[in-house]
Amino acid sequence: MIHKIGVLTSGGDAPGMNCAIRAVVRAGLRYGLEVYGVVNGYKGLVEGQIIKMDRSSVSDIVNRGGTILQTARLREFKDESVRQIAVNNLKKLGIEALVVIGGDGSYMGAKKLTEMGINCVGLPGTIDNDIASTDYTIGFDTCQNTIVECVDKIRDTTESHQRCAIIEVMGNHCGDLALFTGLAEGAEMIITPDHPIPEEDIIAQLKKLHDADKKRAVVIISEKIYQDIHAFAAKIQEETGFETKAEVLGRIQRGGSPSAFDRVLAARMGAYAVDCLLDGKGGICIGMVNNKIVAYDIYEALQLPRDKHASMLRLIDILNA
Ligand code: F6P
Repeated sequence: MIHKIGVLTSGGDAPGMNCAIRAVVRAGLRYGLEVYGVVNGYKGLVEGQIIKMDRSSVSDIVNRGGTILQTARLREFKDESVRQIAVNNLKKLGIEALVVIGGDGSYMGAKKLTEMGINCVGLPGTIDNDIASTDYTIGFDTCQNTIVECVDKIRDTTESHQRCAIIEVMGNHCGDLALFTGLAEGAEMIITPDHPIPEEDIIAQLKKLHDADKKRAVVIISEKIYQDIHAFAAKIQEETGFETKAEVLGRIQRGGSPSAFDRVLAARMGAYAVDCLLDGKGGICIGMVNNKIVAYDIYEALQLPRDKHASMLRLIDILNA
């Protein structure tokens, strides 16, 4: 039987992380555990930034974006000697198990800590939706709604000026944010790592639209495909005659109050993570598959092929082209 657990957030923040923290803290307290918050992710774990949490520590945070525990990325956590410092800090306080809320990079740290004697459970907290062991990550839904809100506004001015808008969205190396928001917007073109389009074809298609007197065009493109999206927009303008503006949405996509979907997802996953720790499980990550909350071994989860949403990719050609 465990008595003390910790919770941390790691990697890029995501709306809904606070709801997950709240669920872990409230469920832990409900089962009679002492619950500690680690400030600043693995970095804070190594530096010993650990605070005791009570019910009021997580009051009024369900609607807040970001993470009250703050977050960081710590490459050095790959080194066993660095992780040993973290383990020692946990042991000093008698913390026996940990919930790690973050992306797949954070999962590996959680698995390694488990192998060093601290049972860890990972929760998928990232806007990118790039974790194969869950249908949705915490933060993805809010982020796609934020993007849609922004693109709706860009559409207005794009139409008024009869321009082409090239809108770059986040996702790291995963195209889900571009695909889902591109379909939601009926974008003229959607370009993602799973749906790449050669540069000459993009230009040819936009020229065709412009020549056919199309009044405006919206192109949604995943980040990390073009190094300089502004230079690409200038090239499109030069070669098609379509006045083209690039918009990089940037970190506005990561902030904001979490959607109802993300709040509920985070609550379900956070409470389940505590159940797993109470059952003595570790080295696992939580997902939602077909609306059921499930757990996978972290190594297995990281090997799973990601769903590339073939049926949705097909819709691009049917509905948007
Ligand atoms: O992983 C989340 C994410 O927002 C990615 O979509 C993006 O590539 C990255 O983080 C940006 O991170 P940072 O804010 O640290 O530059």
